Amino acid sequence: MPNSAKVQALLFDVYGTLFDVHSVVQQCEQQFPGKGVALSQLWRTKQLEYTWQRSLMHRYEPFHVVTRAALRVACRALALEASAAVLDQLIGAYLHLKPYPDTVPALQQLKKMPLAVFSNGSLQMLGPLLANAGIEKYMSHVISVDEIHVFKPDPRVYALGCQRLGVEAKQVALVSSNFWDICGARAYGMQAFWINRTGAGMDELGFEPTAVFASLTQMADQLA
Ligand code: LAC
Repeated sequence: MPNSAKVQALLFDVYGTLFDVHSVVQQCEQQFPGKGVALSQLWRTKQLEYTWQRSLMHRYEPFHVVTRAALRVACRALALEASAAVLDQLIGAYLHLKPYPDTVPALQQLKKMPLAVFSNGSLQMLGPLLANAGIEKYMSHVISVDEIHVFKPDPRVYALGCQRLGVEAKQVALVSSNFWDICGARAYGMQAFWINRTGAGMDELGFEPTAVFASLTQMADQLA
């Protein structure tokens, strides 16, 4: 990070960065044996597509509504019959996602810095999720797009992050595993640390991360 301004605060993406969205595979598999992985993957894909489509159409609905619709559609596409009770159970699992093994150790290491949750998630999803994992105590702010009714990567979302923390874009870094989120932050002028746990390739959207780390703990070591 040789040419970057000093980072004064970190904004953490939640789903896929602090928490493993695919930790619902077990519950999906229990309900639909042999289809757990496919269901979890299509559920996440549809969830993200709906956030982008709703933002483009100016038809915002909170993330818990989008997440439920995405689950219904993924079940239908895979010809899985899900009763209301099964849908409730799988949606409930989203409040108990597992943090990645590096999440808590990294937050512990970084706790002297201002750290904020910065997510598409609505507060009614983020509150229980963070509490169940014991992570809220590390966070100075929980910033949800629900305040402004548009999803990432709309520039207004990154503006909200800066405004809530009271810092300029170049002094704050988004921490995300989602490359499209990294692009959104860079397009707005923020720094962006890409947590690439899987050795994925970069997309071609005209932006690169400020730095790439294989884990949150590798990032924490570097910032310490
Ligand atoms: C979030 C999703 C997009 O937490 O990962 O914002």
